[in-house]
This record gives sequence, structure tokens and C-alpha cells, in this order.
Amino acid sequence: METKPIPGASPPLLQVDGVTLAFGGVKALSGVGFDVQSGSITAVIGPNGAGKTSLFNTISGFYKPTGGSIRFRGQDITRVPAPQRARLGLGRSFQNIALFRGMTVLDNIKLGRHAHLKTNVFDALLYMGRARREEAELRRDIEERIIDFLEIDHIRHAPVAALSYGLQKRVEMARALAMQPEILMLDEPVAGMNREETEDMARFILDVRAEWGVTVLMVEHDMGMVMDLSDHVVVLNFGQVIAQGLPAQVQADPEVGRAYLGSGDVGELRRKLQAAATAQGVA
Ligand SMILES: Nc1ncnc2c1ncn2[C@@H]1O[C@H](COP(=O)(O)OP(=O)(O)OP(=O)(O)O)[C@@H](O)[C@H]1O
Ligand SMILES: [Mg+2]
Repeated sequence: METKPIPGASPPLLQVDGVTLAFGGVKALSGVGFDVQSGSITAVIGPNGAGKTSLFNTISGFYKPTGGSIRFRGQDITRVPAPQRARLGLGRSFQNIALFRGMTVLDNIKLGRHAHLKTNVFDALLYMGRARREEAELRRDIEERIIDFLEIDHIRHAPVAALSYGLQKRVEMARALAMQPEILMLDEPVAGMNREETEDMARFILDVRAEWGVTVLMVEHDMGMVMDLSDHVVVLNFGQVIAQGLPAQVQADPEVGRAYLGSGDVGELRRKLQAAATAQGVA
């Protein structure tokens, strides 16, 4: 499943190889492998419970895999703690919005930037010592780039709790961007959004790549969006990669059709995968 490295070529930005993750006796991921090329938009799709969020949590270091490896810029980060991965350039948002609802948009975004500051978040929030000096730089950076870019200027002082769901998702993206990531990981960026909000978010994702040079790895259920935006699609089902490739290739794959796109006998595929899982002592 892995592509052979070309001598002299730089490695893929992110390499997930044979990753296995178990909760108690249940395997959430089994031998998951794929590469994320620098500058690409890569999408992970799959039915509910396929393991997509677990995969994201493993890549960002919240879950420890029971097997396999994760490499970032060629460096093995499998055992690197989550905060350090964020500092290395892995920025992410969460499937269920994880903003501080009582805080303003601006303060939430600042928390993302603090992944890179020497002062800890709580000191920084008290505007003490070094934080005060870093604050000025921080404010410029955030105001001039991220807030303008995501068109959230009008709500910068609003408490997050007062915002629509679509705007909250945008603020979450702003906070992830404030980490100045090399890879931006978005878990269902348009879930629960109306059509206009979805189109805005799709445009922001394309612009993040074009204007900021950020590589994007996203989990998304919206097939139209996945097919329009992605360079590479990875399909997970029951914790295994059942297909990957160009959007058109994946869409044409009959197994994917059965598993996910609703055209065919899903039951048959489930039985097949369940049998494979049972054979591995998983189910
Ligand atoms: N912290 C956890 N403890 C135990 N089991 C978990 C945990 N997180 C996920 N799982 C299990 O792992 C499997 C994969 O779940 P996961 O949330 O990764 O799926 P998903 O593909 O993101 O689904 P969805 O599309 O609904 O978001 C499920 O069976 C889930 O119940
Ligand atoms: Mg999920």
C-alpha cells in the first residue's frame, strides 16, 4: 500500500504505516497505511464508526497506537507527545467543537498560537512577563492574517457561545491555523453546515493550501466536497483501509460503492470485513 520512496526525493510530509489501535479487546484501527504528500488535500472517508476520528487522534498523539508508525517530515513521531507534535507542525480541529464557549473568538484563537510560545497559556492569559511582549506580536499575526483570511473580523470580540454553528467551526479552524501548522487536520469541517456555510468552508480550505502553503488532511462525510477538493482519498471501513487513490478512482471502486456510497449490497461487504476481522481475532 505504501509507495516506494524515490531516491533523492523528499519523503511524503506524513507517513502512516501499519497503524493498529485497540480499545480493550476491540480494534479500532488495523494496519492502516497511507501517505500525505506535501501540498496535497487528502481526505479520509468511511462510514460511522470506521475509525476516522481514532486515526486523527492517533496521528495527533492523543491515542497511542498498539502497532505501526507515524512519520512526519521523515522523522518517526510515534512516541512524541501530543503538544510536541503540535509544535512540530501538526495542527487540528475537533469533530465536536472544542472551543471555550465563554471566551471571545480572539481569545480562543490565541490559545492555538500558544502552542509555540515559551510562556504557558495560563501565564499568557494573565498578561504577565514574557507573555505581555509576545502578546503584541501575537495580536498582529492573528488580526492581520487569520481573522482577515477567515472573514471573522466582525465577531472577533463576540463570545463563542453566541455564534452560529458554522461560525464556530470557522473559529476552530482559525485556532488550528494559529498553531501555524504544516498540516492542518480537519475532522468533519462542514458537518452540520448549510449549503452556503459549506461552500465558504470549501473555499477556505482551498485558500489555506493556495495562500498559506498548508497541507490539508480532512475527515469528511460530504462526498461532493471530498470529490471536489481532494487530491487523494483514503477509505476506511471497520478500521481498515479498503481503498485509496484519486477521487475518481475511489468513487469507481465497487467495494467503496458497497461500503459507503450507498450503491450496492452493504451487508455483503460488512460480512466480508467482519469475517476478516474475526479471522484476525478482532471481533
Ligand atoms: N475512547 C474510546 N474508547 C473506546 N472505544 C472508542 C474510543 N474512541 C473510539 N472508539 C471506538 O472506535 C471505533 C471507531 O470510532 P471513531 O470515532 O474513530 O469512528 P469515526 O469513523 O470517526 O465515526 P464517525 O463518522 O461517527 O465520526 C468505534 O467502534 C468507537 O466506538
Ligand atoms: Mg469521527
